[in-house]
Amino acid sequence: MPSVEREDWDRRWRERGLHFDEVNRLLAAETEALHPGRALDLGCGAGRNAIWLAERGWQVTGVDFSRFALTRARRLARARHIAVEWVEADLRTYAPPLASFDLVLHLYLHLPAGERRSLLGKAIAALRPGGTVLVIGHDLANLGTGAPGPSDPAVLYTLEAIVAELPGLEIERAECVSRPSVRGDDEVEVVDTVVRARAPE
Ligand SMILES: C[S@@+](CC[C@H](N)C(=O)[O-])C[C@H]1O[C@@H](n2cnc3c(N)ncnc32)[C@H](O)[C@@H]1O
Repeated sequence: MPSVEREDWDRRWRERGLHFDEVNRLLAAETEALHPGRALDLGCGAGRNAIWLAERGWQVTGVDFSRFALTRARRLARARHIAVEWVEADLRTYAPPLASFDLVLHLYLHLPAGERRSLLGKAIAALRPGGTVLVIGHDLANLGTGAPGPSDPAVLYTLEAIVAELPGLEIERAECVSRPSVRGDDEVEVVDTVVRARAPE
C-alpha cells in the first residue's frame, strides 16, 4: 500500500551510504550472551542487524515497508550466503505470529508514541516465554544538540516512556548511552535510549 511515509523512507534509503550496512554495536553487545533462536526485526531497514544475527545462528524475520531497503537487504544477505525471511509490511497493521520469537528488535524505529505503544504491545505478544525485547533509538535528550536523528519530539524516546510501554516484562537494562557521531565537519554526541526486557518463563 503506497503511503507518504513509505515513499519518504524509500527516498532516504536510496540516498544512504554503505556505512549503514554495519551492525549496530549496542545490539551486538546486548545479544551476544543470548542463545540463538527465532528473532523478529521490526523496521529492519537494509538488514544490517538481521543479517548479523542470522550469521550467528539466529533464524530471523525482518519486516519493513521500504521496498528499496528490502532489496538492499536481500542483496546483502545473498552476498554473505545467509538466509533471512524478509517481509514487506507496514508495521502499523502488521500482526506478528503470537508467542513465536525468542528476540524482538525495535531499533531506530521512530513512530508517534501511540503507534509505538501499539507495536510494542504486538512485540510482547510475539515473544516466547523467556524471550527478549530490545528497544534502541534516539533519545529526547538529542533535541536541539545538532545530533543526527528525528527532530520531532513526538517520536523521540525516553527511558520512562519505553519502560512504561513494556508492561509485564522484566526490565533487564534501561539506560541512556552516549556515542560520538560525525555531522559535516563536526563531531557530536548522540544519546541512545537502550531498553532490554524479558518475558516471564
Ligand atoms: C532508521 S531506519 C532503522 C533501520 C534498522 N532498524 C537499523 O537499525 O538499521 C527505520 C526503518 O523503519 C522503517 N519504517 C518506518 N516506519 C515504518 C512502518 N510504519 N512500517 C514498516 N517499516 C517502517 C523504515 O522504512 C526504515 O527502514
